[in-house]
Amino acid sequence: AGKVISKQQQQEMVNVAHRGASGHAPENTMEAFQKGFEMKADYIEIDVQMTKDGELVVIHDTTVNRTTDGTGKVGDLTLAEIRQLDAGSWFGDAYAGEKVPTFEEVLNEFRGKVGILIELKAPELYPGVEAKIADALIERNMDTANNEKIIIQSFNHESMKTSKELLPNLSHGVLLGGNWANVTEEQLAQFAAYADYFNPSMYIVTEELVGDVHEAGMDIYPYTSRSQEQALRLFDLNVDGIITDYPEHVYAHPVKN
Ligand code: G3P
Ligand code: CA
Repeated sequence: AGKVISKQQQQEMVNVAHRGASGHAPENTMEAFQKGFEMKADYIEIDVQMTKDGELVVIHDTTVNRTTDGTGKVGDLTLAEIRQLDAGSWFGDAYAGEKVPTFEEVLNEFRGKVGILIELKAPELYPGVEAKIADALIERNMDTANNEKIIIQSFNHESMKTSKELLPNLSHGVLLGGNWANVTEEQLAQFAAYADYFNPSMYIVTEELVGDVHEAGMDIYPYTSRSQEQALRLFDLNVDGIITDYPEHVYAHPVKN
């Protein structure tokens, strides 16, 4: 069900298309990002890793096995090898030929059109990845203010401290898994020293946690809503944004008059 909300609450809820609109198109492809943009998401979420030859690519798993027709670790393959793979067919024949995007390709195509929530995926596997991300943003003057809606996040909190030093003007976020159910106010204060966003598994979100995160001065964007019910529950818990495979769920909340 979910309670009826005001139009203002509806408009203020930040709609994040997880790996693009990944309920509708193969995750982390240009098609999924385009779909997220067309569905009027506020942000597309992208997972960034590094190839063997030091290039930044957008893919979720640390191997290419699940989402392409190839095999092997992202970090053991060159960009040229990864670009030969088909990243769409696993989702449906209509997407055959979709490629694993490069980070720069996503920035060039979507900057200024839709926010980009950049996740550093497994940065511990890729020494120096924070600096490469920073260089790509600085090269494009995307590091000076947050007017293009750029947020950088990771489950690796040390990596976020490093990134915040390289990109002090950009917003950063800490991602937390379901094992963070008992986060303390002290821990929240430590995160808030470098992070603006506290983005947990939706399963640990309670009204109390949302209040504590706000008290600590951060916003909270839980992940990953995959049903209308889950999106409604998060709305009712007063979160600031919802990371979802289905952007339409965030806009389907019952609104007053
Ligand atoms: O944006 C948060 C969410 O993407 C984190 O989990 O595994 O989907 O990258 P995962
Ligand atoms: Ca992610």
